[in-house]
Amino acid sequence: MIKNKKTAINKFWHDKRILITGGASFIGSNLVDTLLEEHNPKSIRVVDNLSSGLLKNINSHIKNKNIEFVKGDLRDSTVAKSATKKIDVIFHLAADHGGRGYVDLHQAGPASNFMLDGMIFREALKQNVKKIVFASSGCVYPNYIQTNIKKKLYLTEELVVPPYDADNLYGWAKLMAELTLKAYHQEYGMQTASCRYFTVYGPRGVENHAVIAMIARSFIKQNPYQIWGDGQQIRNWTYINDIVSGTIKTAEKINNGTALNLGTMERIKVIDAVNQILNYTNFHPKLKFLPTMPTGPVNRVADNKLAKRLLNWEPKTLFSEGVKKTIDWYYSNKKRDEIEHNFSKLIIER
Ligand SMILES: NC(=O)c1ccc[n+]([C@@H]2O[C@H](COP(=O)([O-])OP(=O)(O)OC[C@H]3O[C@@H](n4cnc5c(N)ncnc54)[C@H](O)[C@@H]3O)[C@@H](O)[C@H]2O)c1
Repeated sequence: MIKNKKTAINKFWHDKRILITGGASFIGSNLVDTLLEEHNPKSIRVVDNLSSGLLKNINSHIKNKNIEFVKGDLRDSTVAKSATKKIDVIFHLAADHGGRGYVDLHQAGPASNFMLDGMIFREALKQNVKKIVFASSGCVYPNYIQTNIKKKLYLTEELVVPPYDADNLYGWAKLMAELTLKAYHQEYGMQTASCRYFTVYGPRGVENHAVIAMIARSFIKQNPYQIWGDGQQIRNWTYINDIVSGTIKTAEKINNGTALNLGTMERIKVIDAVNQILNYTNFHPKLKFLPTMPTGPVNRVADNKLAKRLLNWEPKTLFSEGVKKTIDWYYSNKKRDEIEHNFSKLIIER
């Protein structure tokens, strides 16, 4: 039985020519690794302008000729056109994106995603690409339902309905792309799907996202240790390997434009995440809360029942395990003086 299942998965990927836009990113590069290690597709092309992605994330695959890499800006129609040529499946991850500090404090950059997404979708259609899987976000959920920390709220997919109230221009662009892909399926028959990622963390993550920022503060021995907001905000930080496996399953199983939550249902307060990090790193500073810094919605946790039902997927990594793996990676890959020197930029820029 298990053998048959494996054969079916291999069959799905073995003749697929894949494009990963933004494939040098944290999530994109981990997706490249897993597709190569576990699924053996016909080919993988990565197109990335390296505006936040890092060549070192995929360099070994380029050197070993496992993937084709093109450095280019996908908002340029000639780049988008050649990127989508002779491709069966697109994982569209390229975006002007960053963590809370970035998406709250920058609107113009993320607004360029309207154009970027439209360009990819239009060129993919012209080139007869069979399928697009889109990296969407928990930021499509209405802000107004995520305001009460006392409520045991789990965001179910059907809550994204009018009156829409997405999270910053970043969230609006993700929402418009989801709706466009639904329309592309209905009107043009293209196979499409959207994965709503919830606050992803893990090796190769960057400091403008909360978990890596918290680890970095410990790494540079920040004292007093700063916490944005009052620490009571609730999140469901989701480990990178779970996000990658959910994204691949979405490509295998969803064709009709459905948008799915990929996130754990663990409810973790910022202050509890901080305490786990401080304990594991054996650092015991004074805490300083910064109530005027961006926090985003105070209560954001996914419901993942739809992904369980449609994909037979569920997250495997508890926060308590994933955060230790991430700390181990961070401490063995970073230089303290470099992080300390650039820290104020690293936490809000991309
Ligand atoms: N990290 C998270 O918690 C999270 C949560 C929800 C959604 N997402 C989405 O997942 C995707 C990957 O995010 P990530 O966290 O790995 O990091 P990221 O933001 O660094 O990824 C974006 C990638 O796209 C590239 N890029 C940006 N603009 C481009 C352009 N015009 N042309 C070509 N390449 C371009 C960047 O260099 C980068 O490699 C993004 O679409 C992001 O919005 C991430």
